[in-house]
Amino acid sequence: MATHAEQLTAVEGPAVRLTGLTRSFEARTVLDGIDLDIPAGQFTALLGHSGSGKSTLLRAIAGLDHYVVGSGELTAPERVSVVFQDSRLLPWRRVLDNVLLGTDGKEAAERGRAALAEVGLAGRERAWPNELSGGEAQRAALARSLVRDPELLLADEPFGALDALTRIRMHVLLRELWERHRPSVLLVTHDVDEAIVLADRVLVLDQGRISVDLTIDRPHPRSYRDPLFGEYRERLLDALGVTEHHANQDGHQ
Ligand SMILES: Nc1ncnc2c1ncn2[C@@H]1O[C@H](COP(=O)(O)OP(=O)(O)OP(=O)(O)O)[C@@H](O)[C@H]1O
Ligand SMILES: [Mg+2]
Repeated sequence: MATHAEQLTAVEGPAVRLTGLTRSFEARTVLDGIDLDIPAGQFTALLGHSGSGKSTLLRAIAGLDHYVVGSGELTAPERVSVVFQDSRLLPWRRVLDNVLLGTDGKEAAERGRAALAEVGLAGRERAWPNELSGGEAQRAALARSLVRDPELLLADEPFGALDALTRIRMHVLLRELWERHRPSVLLVTHDVDEAIVLADRVLVLDQGRISVDLTIDRPHPRSYRDPLFGEYRERLLDALGVTEHHANQDGHQ
């Protein structure tokens, strides 16, 4: 008889599988028959214009949207964590209690402390959320997501509100955490450079469909000076309908 582990291997498919995923708000179709597989352990980024449906897609995968219509499958792992642009820490709970929310037991508390240490917040367990900087609050949110040992980490512009330097530090941290824990990641971002430097695959959502599915086959840690970086950047900015000229003027796309 097959062991449990063998059975798991036998049925192991992609961590996320969407077929024909459709979501409309009244007459407006935002997701128009999306097909997408995310293999277990893959780090994927999702780009798209504001309003293109990135958060809608994330919510569907997180199981937070009951009105989503699929012509086929919507499969996601059991343990999913979601991180948002703001940390969503409860102001009346101390940092460790925020991280532990929804868990219980001594073992969970230990994991919570360990997760805080992993994100560089050891010693801040008893701080109140309003005593944390924006970057620290996002690190606490990452610790909260890790404590559940997620098979899939969904992140909706988690660094969007941070200054450029803090954002770069968070990139390094997120990638390190991914290397240690190997969840599948779907990172929504507006930032083409962030997508290229972090992800092994970059998707563009446009007109309700995945219009670009690009593999970033470069070693980590990545350098912005990698000559291929410019090519990826150009392709993605093109797909987003942004010219380099505009991108430079805005600082970002
Ligand atoms: N609950 C809702 N009711 C009606 N329309 C909605 C709802 N949620 C999203 N939409 C619409 O769906 C479209 C996609 O929204 P979504 O939040 O997914 O975009 P997004 O790509 O995440 O944008 P942004 O980059 O600005 O966060 C938008 O036009 C939005 O107005
Ligand atoms: Mg959004």
